[in-house]
Amino acid sequence: MNDMFEKLDCSPQDRLIDRSNRHLNYLRVSITDRCNLNCKYCLPFSCHSKQSHHDILRYEELLHLIRIFRDLGISKIRITGGEPLVRKDIIPFLSQLHEINGIDDLAMTTNGLLLQDHLVKIKSAGIRRLNISLDSLNPENYHRITGHDVFQKVWEGILAAEKMGFYPIKINVVALRGINDHELIDMARLSLSHPFHIRFIEYMPIGDSTLQLEKPLFTPEILEQISTLGELYPVERGKMDGPARRFRFKNAKGEIGFISPISRHFCRTCNRLRLTAGGFLRTCLLSDHQTDLKTPLRSGFSDQQVADVILSAIRQKPTSHDLNSKQAGQIASPMSAIGG
Ligand code: 5AD
Repeated sequence: MNDMFEKLDCSPQDRLIDRSNRHLNYLRVSITDRCNLNCKYCLPFSCHSKQSHHDILRYEELLHLIRIFRDLGISKIRITGGEPLVRKDIIPFLSQLHEINGIDDLAMTTNGLLLQDHLVKIKSAGIRRLNISLDSLNPENYHRITGHDVFQKVWEGILAAEKMGFYPIKINVVALRGINDHELIDMARLSLSHPFHIRFIEYMPIGDSTLQLEKPLFTPEILEQISTLGELYPVERGKMDGPARRFRFKNAKGEIGFISPISRHFCRTCNRLRLTAGGFLRTCLLSDHQTDLKTPLRSGFSDQQVADVILSAIRQKPTSHDLNSKQAGQIASPMSAIGG
């Protein structure tokens, strides 16, 4: 795994440890800012300027950067977007990524719309873990939230992924008052009959989304609602666990998770970095600060020099974000550009 450490002049203390002593080992890579859905909370309905081909990192540039990150200590990669499956030739890219030594965990976040067409190839390219966004089980409401009447296709894709043995399949539900809050119990119920991890995510005010919620919906209230289904038993945390607090109903096949970026910050244990489709490094989802890696890469910096740019960026990783339940700020970039 550390085969390039001789090449990259990094002493152990230079590895991805930030000033708050957090070990950063998880990189989320957005490979496109394009998406085939228009979720209310993610993209604005007005036309958002998409980045041109030239602005987006080429696959070989992504692989190059990922190898440098690997050599600095990243061992977990999640491919995200936009919608990653809309990018042409993603499968050979995933296969090449899978061949990089030292990446122990390769996962993808998708909206599931193109999943069925790609499942076999995604699996043979080494992806086992999928996070799928699904904010409603009602076709009409799904249409309202995403702008597209495609619930059935997404749902069939999810079931096909289950059948093919992808595990875990995490279902991401952004909890939105007045939009899908009447469905949260139905979503939670899915964990009884399917081995899915249903994860309720607090809405974060990111980008100029068209969404105007009269009042946010936080985890304690969601928990209270879905507890009407039965007692929730805590699940022991795993080594590779993210910020979700995990529970399970008695005899359930799946799990329930709560991701509470607003009501209960997990900044203290944040181990993440994000690489945007345009080649910028973001050390905090909830900060607009970003570091350009594309220009150094394209202007012929050595791997060591690029690594130095990364190391100095991570030393600036904010200790904590400043969005909280009382004061909801706005992050200018849309989620589709940052990568969720
Ligand atoms: N707030 C909370 N979650 C969001 N996601 C996208 N935009 C937001 C937002 N503004 C979620 C989607 C996706 C995951 C990567 O991020 O549900 O599944």
